[in-house]
Amino acid sequence: MKVLGIDIGGSAFKGAPVDTEVGKLLNERLRIETQPFCQLKDGAAAVHYIAKHFKWKGPIGIGFPGVIRKGHIGAVGNLGDHWVGQNGQALFSEATGCKVRLINDAAAAGRAEMAFGAGRGRKDAVLMLTFGTGIGSSLFFGGVQYPRAEFGHISWEGKAIERFAAAVVKTDKNLTWKQWAVRVNIYLKIMERLLSPDLIIVGGGVSKKSDKWLRYLKADAEVVPAKLHNDAGIIGSALADWTASGISSARHLIAGRERFRKIIRLFPLRRQANLWSHKQA
Ligand code: BGC
Repeated sequence: MKVLGIDIGGSAFKGAPVDTEVGKLLNERLRIETQPFCQLKDGAAAVHYIAKHFKWKGPIGIGFPGVIRKGHIGAVGNLGDHWVGQNGQALFSEATGCKVRLINDAAAAGRAEMAFGAGRGRKDAVLMLTFGTGIGSSLFFGGVQYPRAEFGHISWEGKAIERFAAAVVKTDKNLTWKQWAVRVNIYLKIMERLLSPDLIIVGGGVSKKSDKWLRYLKADAEVVPAKLHNDAGIIGSALADWTASGISSARHLIAGRERFRKIIRLFPLRRQANLWSHKQA
């Protein structure tokens, strides 16, 4: 099956068509940089723009950095509370006219790694952690995923631990890899005490540079970098459950498209394209 996978992050929307049988991108991915705490209309327009770029009419799987329950957005870490309570699935299907499935971004990355990457064939306890603007998590046992695991929100010094150990903290505080790894080790220690996983897969953008920091990590579990690196989010988003019901009807999509056209008229795409820097990355 060919699905357009889109990974929404704190600073960019990234997408590419995916072959879900083999877990591979079919084109170079497109990255649209967005403002921090991007507004709903800008998010919808970015997704619209990515679909348009790939001339996409088929299904779209979207990884979103927040709790997702039946297409609705629950608690959000780093995109802003204005997304909370929205029917994200309807918003993005209206923006594109396509069938959309929404899934948590780390849950998506975990699925991709279990199907095609570092967790392939593993039936024991696997914890996938993604380090980026926040910390995403996904938990598997017997190859089955526990839904809505949000271990980046464990409390540490009165705040969510992602404020202490996410990859963005390394940049913001100008830490060396070794200094940042001290923080990650504190986090891993807590996770091991709570879950005793057999395998920990570390993902997110920093997994591409695992040679720089993986050697500093200390854990009883086997710790490996994500094999699909940052593409895990895009590939995993495409692996959403396409058999379940809840797909918008054609009538709903046409009505939605009309509503979206109005939004786009108010905020023309060409102007938006100038606002965003977009590059193939
Ligand atoms: C969000 C998670 C998300 C993670 C990685 C956290 O702030 O709460 O839902 O998976 O960031 O983006």
